[in-house]
Amino acid sequence: MHITTQLAHLGVGRDPRTGSISTPIYQCATFAHPALGESTGYDYSRSGNPTRQALEEAIAQLEGGVRGFAFSSGMAAITSILLLLQKGDHLVVTEDLYGGTYRLLEQIFNRFDLSATYVDTSDLGQVEKAIKSNTRAILVESPTNPLLKVADLAAIGELAKSRSVLYIVDNTFMTPYLQKPLDFGADIVIHSATKYLGGHNDVVAGLVVVKDPELADKVYFLQNGAGAILGPQDSWLIIRGLKTLGLRLDRQQANSLTIARWLEEHPQVEKVYYPGLPNHPGHKLLSQQAKGFGGMISFTVKEAALVEQVLAKVKLIPFAESLGGVETLITFPAKQTHCDIPPETRARLGVCDCLLRLSVGIEHPEDLIADLEQALD
Ligand SMILES: Cc1ncc(COP(=O)(O)O)c(C=O)c1O
Repeated sequence: MHITTQLAHLGVGRDPRTGSISTPIYQCATFAHPALGESTGYDYSRSGNPTRQALEEAIAQLEGGVRGFAFSSGMAAITSILLLLQKGDHLVVTEDLYGGTYRLLEQIFNRFDLSATYVDTSDLGQVEKAIKSNTRAILVESPTNPLLKVADLAAIGELAKSRSVLYIVDNTFMTPYLQKPLDFGADIVIHSATKYLGGHNDVVAGLVVVKDPELADKVYFLQNGAGAILGPQDSWLIIRGLKTLGLRLDRQQANSLTIARWLEEHPQVEKVYYPGLPNHPGHKLLSQQAKGFGGMISFTVKEAALVEQVLAKVKLIPFAESLGGVETLITFPAKQTHCDIPPETRARLGVCDCLLRLSVGIEHPEDLIADLEQALD
């Protein structure tokens, strides 16, 4: 079946008793046992809940993995996956990654003797060079946040396999509609489902999919043991959001290309980062390993003062963190999503005080351009 059909039918047919088309919400903490030593398959909702299970099976199917896991946020998902590692282990990580993941590694997991080296994962040589004797995992975001650099997922997959390290991909920006990292050798895929998968800026959630049953047992142990599970109502909201993922992303990508081309021509705009533009360094690679270019655009304006002006003048586009929803949002990465990354690292990466990021929604592109035009004027 095509993915759009799979998406539309997620969760359908899970309640043969009533025939409910929508997945029922089992707002329930605990489940009665039929008799001593017997279980309905559900005992306690931290260990398993039918609504959460519907979502977990859905994301596993979409990503092509053996098992999915739903967590209370993207950060809870990443935290639970990092718990697979041991004291003294080392990771190789994408350098311009989501600031919250950097903060988690540098201000929380470093206290437990987990260390990380940050490299440009669009350069395979840098990834290879950073692997040490105690490296246990490579954690990749592609395209990156916010500069949209593209890593060669298959080449990193081969490298990870040859060095026997765990290969983890944060697929938040692409979603399985556009990119399936498990097909390129990844062992684990992570999502902030708060973003495109939920798609409506109304729920915070995280998802994980693994490729191997033995690894799935380990992740389940951590999900149940650490307990950062997604509740039934929020699981239902993500299932509901997923049904329109393809429609939303088609529109978001079309809008993004129109806006990126318009921004390129604007006299106040210095540089546009959108992998759908043929001059973007990752354009060719992304067109080979993904089915589209996504809905995220970053751009620099000619002077820092313009950032303040744009953020004050936008009327339709809210100045807000997050991404992937139906509403277009504008973000100032240096002061918001990436404020925990040291200023010198930000400067080196190009996350400068002139950089703005757009998460492009499903509105009419002419209205979005009109808003940006008056804000940049
Ligand atoms: C790429 C990426 N990964 C992970 C996260 C964290 O997810 P959450 O905010 O759902 O905890 C974010 C949040 O912005 C993100 O952009």
